[in-house]
Amino acid sequence: MLTRKLFYILFSFLLFSCNNHESEKIYIGFSQCISSDQWRKDMNHSMMVQTSLYPNINLKISEANRSVEKQISQIEDFIEEDVDVLLVSPLETKKIVPVIERAYEKGIPVILIDRKIDSDKYTAFVGADNIAVGRMAASYIASSAADNISILEIKGTDNSSPTIERSLGFNQIAKEVDNIESVFTIENYTDDQFSRILDTLDTTKTDYVFSFNDILARSAWQVAENKGLADDLKFVGVDGLVGPDGGINMILDGRLQATVLYPTGGAEAIKLARRVYAGEQVPKNNSLNITLIDKLNADIMKNQYEKINEQQLELEKQLLAIEQQEEKYYVQNNLLKIAMALLAVILSLAIYSIYSIRIIRRKNKELQLTNEKVVNQRNKIKSIAEEIKRVNKAKINFFTGVSHEFKTPLTLIMSSLESIYMDLKGHKSRHQSDLDVISRNSKRLLRLINNLLDFRRIEDEEFNLKVSKTNLLEFSEKVSMDFKKEAKKRSISFEISSNDKDLNVYIDRNLMDKVYFNLLSNAFKFTPDNGSIKIHLDHQENKNIVNIHFKDSGIGIPENEKGQLFKPFFKAANNNKKSSGIGLNITKQFVELHKGNIEVNSHQGTEFVISLPTTKDQFSSDQIISTVDNEQPIYFEDDFELEENNDLIPASGEGDQDQYSILIIEDNYDLSRFLNNKLGKKYRTYLSDGSDALEKAFEHIPDIIICDINLPGKDGFEICETLKKDLRTSHIPTIILTALGDRESYLKGLKSGADLYLTKPFSFAILLQSLKSLLYNREKLRYYYTNNLFKLEKENKFSNSEQEFISRLNNLIKDHLDHSDFTVEKLAEELNVSRVQLYRKVKALLGMNISDYINNYKLENAKMYLEETDLSVSEIAYKCGFSTPNYFSTSFKNKYGASPASYRKSYNNSN
Ligand code: FRU
Repeated sequence: MLTRKLFYILFSFLLFSCNNHESEKIYIGFSQCISSDQWRKDMNHSMMVQTSLYPNINLKISEANRSVEKQISQIEDFIEEDVDVLLVSPLETKKIVPVIERAYEKGIPVILIDRKIDSDKYTAFVGADNIAVGRMAASYIASSAADNISILEIKGTDNSSPTIERSLGFNQIAKEVDNIESVFTIENYTDDQFSRILDTLDTTKTDYVFSFNDILARSAWQVAENKGLADDLKFVGVDGLVGPDGGINMILDGRLQATVLYPTGGAEAIKLARRVYAGEQVPKNNSLNITLIDKLNADIMKNQYEKINEQQLELEKQLLAIEQQEEKYYVQNNLLKIAMALLAVILSLAIYSIYSIRIIRRKNKELQLTNEKVVNQRNKIKSIAEEIKRVNKAKINFFTGVSHEFKTPLTLIMSSLESIYMDLKGHKSRHQSDLDVISRNSKRLLRLINNLLDFRRIEDEEFNLKVSKTNLLEFSEKVSMDFKKEAKKRSISFEISSNDKDLNVYIDRNLMDKVYFNLLSNAFKFTPDNGSIKIHLDHQENKNIVNIHFKDSGIGIPENEKGQLFKPFFKAANNNKKSSGIGLNITKQFVELHKGNIEVNSHQGTEFVISLPTTKDQFSSDQIISTVDNEQPIYFEDDFELEENNDLIPASGEGDQDQYSILIIEDNYDLSRFLNNKLGKKYRTYLSDGSDALEKAFEHIPDIIICDINLPGKDGFEICETLKKDLRTSHIPTIILTALGDRESYLKGLKSGADLYLTKPFSFAILLQSLKSLLYNREKLRYYYTNNLFKLEKENKFSNSEQEFISRLNNLIKDHLDHSDFTVEKLAEELNVSRVQLYRKVKALLGMNISDYINNYKLENAKMYLEETDLSVSEIAYKCGFSTPNYFSTSFKNKYGASPASYRKSYNNSN
């Protein structure tokens, strides 16, 4: 960019400096009327020589060849070209006038040469005085002739000013002098005409012939010579040129007597043009000197002329040399400038290159450093990655090892159980439920361990596929059998369909069992009761594939998480179920081992689609087996059968009403059942898997709540917070029982209002003691409240929400104190709770039923009126909302052991 800019500047500079010497040109146009004779050629030549002295003059000569029209058009062209100075040697005086005036009026300086015109509109005239020329010629003749001479005057053919003026001057003198007797004028000279005149001429009387110019004089001499009369006549001409037929040579060879030197004025005209162009004031008439040449000075004149000519030639040569030198100079000068400019460019480029090289070097160094850093970091990352890999491997090895270790004791437990079951032979044992828990959890543990081992085997690419020809629909139905009970129990519509009942595929049944199990247990895990789950086999015969669709109406998968679903240890954001995170990863790996693929769609539920090739070409011969290992996979003996026993273990909520009630919110069936079994003996228990926790809490208003954190739907924190904020349940002590043992969860639990935070695994004894303590504390408070019923508002011993409840309750009773029809229902309505909820809340909080509480409140008020006012018993009865004074008296007597009247009496006496 920089170099291009630099080059452009230099190039412009060069262009400007190379053309510089041509910028000040003066354009001079010269219109020459005649060009055939020597005198005119001399004029043109002298102009050119003069021009060559000034390199800034551009001279253009146009020759009209004796045509007035041509001369006019040539001048018009010059006007058009906008010449700086116009030079004209006009052919005649009149016709040319308009065009010359036009040029003049346009502001072009006009210089007339040699001949004049009939107008003043020109800038200057250069030429000799032709009257003087005529007079000089006549004076010469008169001075050198005898008396009474006659003269023949020969005029040219044109009507130019020299023709007119020379004749005029000549005749002026001829008339003045005495020895010139007559002048006979020949107009429009021709040789024939002159020849005829000579035939009749008395040569004794005619001595001289005066010609308009040397050319005519020569013609006339020749005609006379031809007639043998040349010696009898003396010829005088005008112009005085040197050259074979020039006037001076003709004097020397005796043809002419004399001639008047008439200068062309070419050089002078150019000089004058320069001055005019420069804006100088010049004289209008610039007269040139004339000289008479005869035998006496012809030699000298010739010599001088030749000398001048030589010098002229020399000058021209020198001028040419100068011109060439100048040309050379310009070329060299330009070359020098170009060279300098190039040098400057090269220098700039060199500087720029050095600068660039330095920058590149610096950048290179920086890059090198960065590179080294990156390499170092990469190596570090590599070694860290290797370390992580090694540690991971070690961990997995450890897990695998431990898992293998687990398998043996588990198998022992399971086989021992099997034998116990066999011993029982279908009889129910009192340990039945415990045995079931052991059995079910052993199987679950075994399945998890198997998953872990499968995962490891996939990682190590250890799986050796054993595929066998299998009817896919039959296989699907068989695998699904074990989910049928669960579907029925939860009213989930579970269907299997196929567009090709006879479709056979090559699958490793053990692995495909696990694939089906994983997808179906996922579907059942996330599909709500009354939902639907479908398996559809879509055989696409033309493509040789079968698409197995597993579609459920569950919670679905967030769109942005679909891509990660099959990654190991991934758990979707909306999945708060317990999950190892490797089931779907194993599923995908198993499907891919079958050269198939699995995709997930989530739109109103979830749909997994497995595509499997229906051919067997993708398997090697050693992978294909004909007999099938009929070992029943452990997965088929799933939890669901046992879960059905749920109904057999009723929560004891409706049992002994004197017992405290506990709501156990826990989605782990075993734990829930365990707690229920253990606590059910001492407490009335209500169970919730979390999905209906709030509903159950509001319905039963239990005395205490045990709540897990990770639950389907709302988590334990949210449930606890909601319960604590709600007037109906805010008083209930809550224990959070969770596996989350971190500090943050602990804090969160307490912030949600929980009274106690216990982590799993927990000691049942501690849990039991915690329950007892919380209930005992509640009891102590209740005892205090019951005995200090009317101080409660002031003492602020309750938590804020309880205090608020008591205040609202008391205010409502107070506001309706004199309304005997103010019922518990109305009070509950005002408090926005049900009658039962109000009953339970007051019972839990104050240890009495709400009617007693209202009654007590009324009686306490009545007692105050009896003590502090003079109101009658009847008045007090109505004021405190008793329907009749009798009913008031009875109630009062029941509570205080005396009728209102006797109470007042004894109170007044004692005070
Ligand atoms: C040449 C010429 C000269 C003469 C001059 C007058 O063409 O005839 O001989 O002196 O022109 O204009």
